[in-house]
Amino acid sequence: MSAEPDRVPLACLPTPLERVVGVLPERRSCLVKRDDLTGAALSGNKVRKLEYLFAEARAKGARRVLTCGGIQSNHCRATAVAAAQLGMRSVLFLRTATPPGPDDPATGNLKLDLLVGAEVRFITPEQYRDRATLMADAAGEDGYVIPEGGSNALGAWGYIRCIDELCAQWGDAPPSAIVCATGSGGTLAGLVIGLARRGVEVPCHGVAVCDDAGYFQEIVGRISAEATERWPDLPRVAPEAVSVIEGYKGRGYALSTPEERADVVRVARGSGMILDPVYTGKAFRSLLHEPERFGERPLFIHTGGIFGQLA
Ligand SMILES: Cc1ncc(COP(=O)(O)O)c(C=O)c1O
Repeated sequence: MSAEPDRVPLACLPTPLERVVGVLPERRSCLVKRDDLTGAALSGNKVRKLEYLFAEARAKGARRVLTCGGIQSNHCRATAVAAAQLGMRSVLFLRTATPPGPDDPATGNLKLDLLVGAEVRFITPEQYRDRATLMADAAGEDGYVIPEGGSNALGAWGYIRCIDELCAQWGDAPPSAIVCATGSGGTLAGLVIGLARRGVEVPCHGVAVCDDAGYFQEIVGRISAEATERWPDLPRVAPEAVSVIEGYKGRGYALSTPEERADVVRVARGSGMILDPVYTGKAFRSLLHEPERFGERPLFIHTGGIFGQLA
């Protein structure tokens, strides 16, 4: 098996694998990998990816990291907190059509970005299309650019390794399916590469919270190709082999419907588990509304995002 690249320990690992009862229909239960518990301010799925990305940034002598996302990006918040923890600076390119004014109170993830001293640059959705160039131009001598969501081959190691962690946790009782939210594709890519790497034949489904199946299959295929180029022992995952579930993005990225909000409330009251409005609150609905699709022992990856509830 390919040797794992260097990583900076940032996450509290292993995260718990819990059985959640009382929320799925027909008295079904599900397993939940609590990656919302990778830490406090530095929590969620991004922390696993950032362990590898920050290791490379440090190895390259970077003193600043630059990244991008929506105005309430969990990834940007995790990057800013990790940078502060490691004594580095962060520059965040945050997408918004309406930047907050100086007197508007910052909320949720943005509040934490500012608290830990991130340099925040608001950019329009049109400018966001050129984010790679914007970040490369701003990187200078000492900057390391982390792509949207930390979703590249190096970041995918976070979830390749999570599969190792899960295999140790489920032992000889694997789940019938793995389900996660997919927003920039890196978590899903890591999971499917990680499963193939260990020869584990558990179906893995990404639930699209934006865009469509073809878009995410293409991204996962691209990350996998990039990964085999860098680590030739890793298995190559073909785009058409990647399962992406559509039908749960609702009104679109970061927009909620009353039905989605009601399900988040139901899960919170039935289990104490807080889903976020942008990713997990949409993806978990696939288990609530189509449980038969995932067999008797589904496993949901709770990828975090709690600060989205405070935005
Ligand atoms: C809470 C949360 N869940 C899921 C995702 C999706 O993960 P990925 O970007 O790796 O597809 C993200 C980020 O995009 C996230 O912040």
